[in-house]
Amino acid sequence: MNATQDQPHIFFLPFLAPGHMIPSMDMVRLFATRGLKTTIVTTPANLHYFAKAIEINTQSSSIKIDLLTIKFPSEEVGLPKGCENFDCVTTPEMFHKFLKAVDLLQQPFTNLMEKYHPTCLVADIFFHWANSVASKFEVPRLGFHGSNYFSRCIVYNLLQHELHKKLSSDSETFVVPGYLPHEVMLTNSELAPYDKKQGSIFLLELMDKIREGVRECYGVIMNSFFELESAYIDYYENVMGMKQWHIGPFSLYFNNEGEHDAVNNRGKNSSIDVSECRRWLDEKEVNSVIYVCFGSVSNVSNAQLHEIAIALEDLGQNFILVVKEDTKEWIADRFERKTKGRGLIIRGWAPQKMILNHSSVGGFVTHCGWNSILEGVITGVPMVTWPLHAEQFYNEKLVTDVLRIGIQVGSKRFVPRVGNHNIIIGNKELLKAMKSVMIDEIAQDMRNRVQKLKEMARKTISEGGSSYSQLTALITEIKSFKS
Ligand SMILES: *[C@@H]1O[C@H](CO)[C@@H](O)[C@H](O)[C@H]1NC(C)=O
Ligand SMILES: *[C@@H]1O[C@H](CO)[C@@H](O)[C@H](O)[C@H]1NC(C)=O
Ligand SMILES: *[C@@H]1O[C@H](CO)[C@@H](O)[C@H](O)[C@H]1NC(C)=O
Repeated sequence: MNATQDQPHIFFLPFLAPGHMIPSMDMVRLFATRGLKTTIVTTPANLHYFAKAIEINTQSSSIKIDLLTIKFPSEEVGLPKGCENFDCVTTPEMFHKFLKAVDLLQQPFTNLMEKYHPTCLVADIFFHWANSVASKFEVPRLGFHGSNYFSRCIVYNLLQHELHKKLSSDSETFVVPGYLPHEVMLTNSELAPYDKKQGSIFLLELMDKIREGVRECYGVIMNSFFELESAYIDYYENVMGMKQWHIGPFSLYFNNEGEHDAVNNRGKNSSIDVSECRRWLDEKEVNSVIYVCFGSVSNVSNAQLHEIAIALEDLGQNFILVVKEDTKEWIADRFERKTKGRGLIIRGWAPQKMILNHSSVGGFVTHCGWNSILEGVITGVPMVTWPLHAEQFYNEKLVTDVLRIGIQVGSKRFVPRVGNHNIIIGNKELLKAMKSVMIDEIAQDMRNRVQKLKEMARKTISEGGSSYSQLTALITEIKSFKS
């Protein structure tokens, strides 16, 4: 056997949603640049998320990333043809169908494992069946968690202490039990229904299976770093008893290619010419632009956008606002014309990392998805936190109460990702929070703190840093599976 054949081969199975696939692509590159043989498994309509990044990487270096597809059974479960990604799911019914289709991927994926015999499987935690596939072939399954330690510690305690039985009113505020490193306050209405044992049986059962999959897998890879949440890493490992590796922030490992397409058009093609956007920012003063973006899958109503527009007008600062491609005319017409010169509206997909890393950007209004928070941290930008769903309310508390690098907009109610709701944050509350990160005195304190974290993030991924060493340790362990 020669050296190449001896290399461990890792299979990666990313969950089919932008917020999971983008960090997964970075993670795969990370393993590939350390000389491991890597293969990504996805479905045909999701190929483009990976294909371009892989092409660029394999051209510019000797790293090797393979790409395999399995058929996504859209039509079998009653989804439109080509609907293979969470971002095309718009109703609760579609959500169920989508998750059913994800379950049906088990057989075709098993067939691939049989054919290629990888040494190790890294599967997103959403694939609760991945442990049983891995054990069939006697290989370890690592779980990739698109979230962070802090939120895992919170959820663990909510369930452990059966908070759902203790809370009476929706507005009840409580300290998360379980002797966490900080006193974390939450309001009942912020909790995800499945963390309170509410909602559809289907979803509750799925969540149980996912949690069991995480508990039973070989170990968990987290896109986080020691200096960001060390006390919670300790809690996760020693109180919750989980084997884990913190090897992030993944995206920071690849900054030397800053000008490259694959970096600026992460996930999807940017809806705006990246150099045009950069030129616009170049003309603005340092820290004078506030960037407003709700992530890849959140649905912001026109009524809410109206409030955002008023607040941005009153704030009087420069801004970049990212809206959905199909956002209605009023914004295109009136708001855009009225704020010409100081406002830039991007319809669709924004080159977020480039924007946040520009010195003109001084604040970030974010839905608190974990990838967005990490991007705010590694670029040193204080945040206005506006959680909507998933674990975003927990992430918010890490930003505002533990790290103190952001201000809450006052979003207090979990809203489902799909389906309608009429929760609106008013322009006055919004304006107040935006002023706090852009103008008020506390802005500088938050900026100083987040700038320190930015430096720590840079060090942690460098040789001798914590994430770097964790990655080395993980790779050594993976190599030992082979023998
Ligand atoms: C977003 O909400 C609107 C109504 O407010 C609805 O018509 C539309 O289908 C929703 N889109 C998604 C992707 O959920
Ligand atoms: C931000 O830009 C600077 C200067 O161009 C670069 O050195 C750095 O790596 C970038 N950081 C990120 C997180 O993109
Ligand atoms: C992105 O743009 C390239 C070149 O302009 C095009 O070939 C590709 O299909 C686009 N990708 C997506 C997902 O739209």
